Amino acid sequence: MYYDEQSFNIPELEGISQEQIDVHLKLYSGYVTNTNYLLEKIAELSEDPDNNKILMDELQRRLGFEFDGMRLHEYYFEQLEDGAQEPDSNSAFIEALTEQYGGFESWLEDFKRVSGLRGIGWTITYYDPKAGYFHNAWVSDHELGHLAGLPVVFNMDMWEHAFMVDYLPSEKGQYKDAYIGNVNWSVVEERFEQVS
Ligand SMILES: [Fe+2]
Repeated sequence: MYYDEQSFNIPELEGISQEQIDVHLKLYSGYVTNTNYLLEKIAELSEDPDNNKILMDELQRRLGFEFDGMRLHEYYFEQLEDGAQEPDSNSAFIEALTEQYGGFESWLEDFKRVSGLRGIGWTITYYDPKAGYFHNAWVSDHELGHLAGLPVVFNMDMWEHAFMVDYLPSEKGQYKDAYIGNVNWSVVEERFEQVS
């Protein structure tokens, strides 16, 4: 066992049902299981690399999908822990956002623009400590399009499984507003402080 499945203290949410969260947590659990399975299998097969090369290569190829699926869901569920909390205008996070975007609302508008891309994936706000710059980016699936080495400050799951218990595909906008309305921004502010 390489990774433990995390548990999250998620209270009753506005506009996102308990059933939706439960279904989604089960999917998260699958990513943890599969990440551990891949790492174990690769280690096992590497005892006889000459005979197992193709198998190992294909498992290796799969690792980015499962690992990123695991880790991105951990960020996503952590952001809902302990109940919604408004952004703190005195926090370093909001100050930095304001400097770059003019304010929290302008950043959010840009984040929502990115989250409107078609297809399944994630909208992610990264912070580049080297340049002192935020990026709102789109990642397809779980692993395609990450900005190398940049820490994730905030993310939102844009796979349909994240909302289809509660919303139709055409109601994606309602899901986005519901998710954002339930965020505990102190989690994000703390994350930013750790990486900036
Ligand atoms: Fe998900």
